[in-house]
Amino acid sequence: MSLFNELKRRKVFKVGITYLLIAWVVAQILELVFDSFGTPDWVLKSALVLLATGFLFALFFAWVFEITPEGIKSQQEVDQSQSITPQLIKSIRENKTANRLLNSIIYKSHSKDLANLDLVESILESSIRNNPIHGITGVLIVTETHFLQVLEGEFEPLNATFQKICLDKRHDTVQLISFTEIKERRFSEWAMHGIGLFDLNRELKLKLCLEFGEDQGNIRLPTTATEILHLMDMLLSEKTPGKDD
Ligand SMILES: Cc1cc2nc3c(=O)[nH]c(=O)nc-3n(C[C@H](O)[C@H](O)[C@H](O)COP(=O)(O)O)c2cc1C
Repeated sequence: MSLFNELKRRKVFKVGITYLLIAWVVAQILELVFDSFGTPDWVLKSALVLLATGFLFALFFAWVFEITPEGIKSQQEVDQSQSITPQLIKSIRENKTANRLLNSIIYKSHSKDLANLDLVESILESSIRNNPIHGITGVLIVTETHFLQVLEGEFEPLNATFQKICLDKRHDTVQLISFTEIKERRFSEWAMHGIGLFDLNRELKLKLCLEFGEDQGNIRLPTTATEILHLMDMLLSEKTPGKDD
C-alpha cells in the first residue's frame, strides 16, 4: 500500500483538515477576545504555537490509533479485519448482495377437482403473464390429483406470489416443502414450465414408479425437495406430455 493510501486509510488527512478548520475558528475567536481585553501580543502568539503543536499531535494520534468496534486501539493492535472501515464496507456489500439474494419455494398441493390440461393451461396463462413482471421462474408438475411447484425469485415478490397461489380456490392442502436461499436459478429459462402427468407412456410410468414408488397404480409423488427436483430433472430430460411456455 502506498504512503498516500495508508495516510488516507488511517484518516490522517481527514483529521488534519478538520483540526486546521477548528484551529482557524479558535484563533479568530481568541484574536477578537484578546483584542477587546487589550491582552499583550505574546499571549495570542503562545496560543497559536499551542494550536500548531496540537496539530502535530492530532496527526500523530490519527496515524498511531484507530477506531475499532472495541474502542480506540493502536494500529499495531488492530487486526485490519477489525478496523471499522473494512467492516462497514463489508456490511454494505453484504446488504447489497442480500437484496439480490434468490430464494426458492417448493410446495405440494391437492387439486380440488380432477386436474386436466385445461386447468394446466389456465394456470400457465396467468403465471406467464405475471411471473416475468416479478422475476419469478419455475416448474409446475400437475397430476390428476396434485400439484408440485418450484418457484424461484427474490424474497419479496416470491413470497407475494406464493401467498397469492395459496389463496387459489382450485387447490387446497398446500404443503410447503422448502423455502430456501439459492445461488442461482435452476429454471431460469421458464416463467413457468408446466408438465402434466396425465397420459404417461407405460415405459416412463414404470421408470418413475421404480424411482419414486407407487401409490394405487400411480407414481407416488415425492415429498422432499431433493426428490422433487430429481423428478423434475427426470421429466425435463424426457419428452413428456404437458404444456409449457
Ligand atoms: C397450482 C397453482 C400454481 C400457480 N402458479 C402461479 C404462478 O406461478 N404465478 C402466478 O402468477 N399465478 C399462479 N397461479 C395462479 C394464481 O393463484 C392466481 O390465480 C393468478 O396469479 C391470478 O392472476 P391475475 O391476478 O393476473 O388474474 C397458480 C395457481 C395454482 C392453482
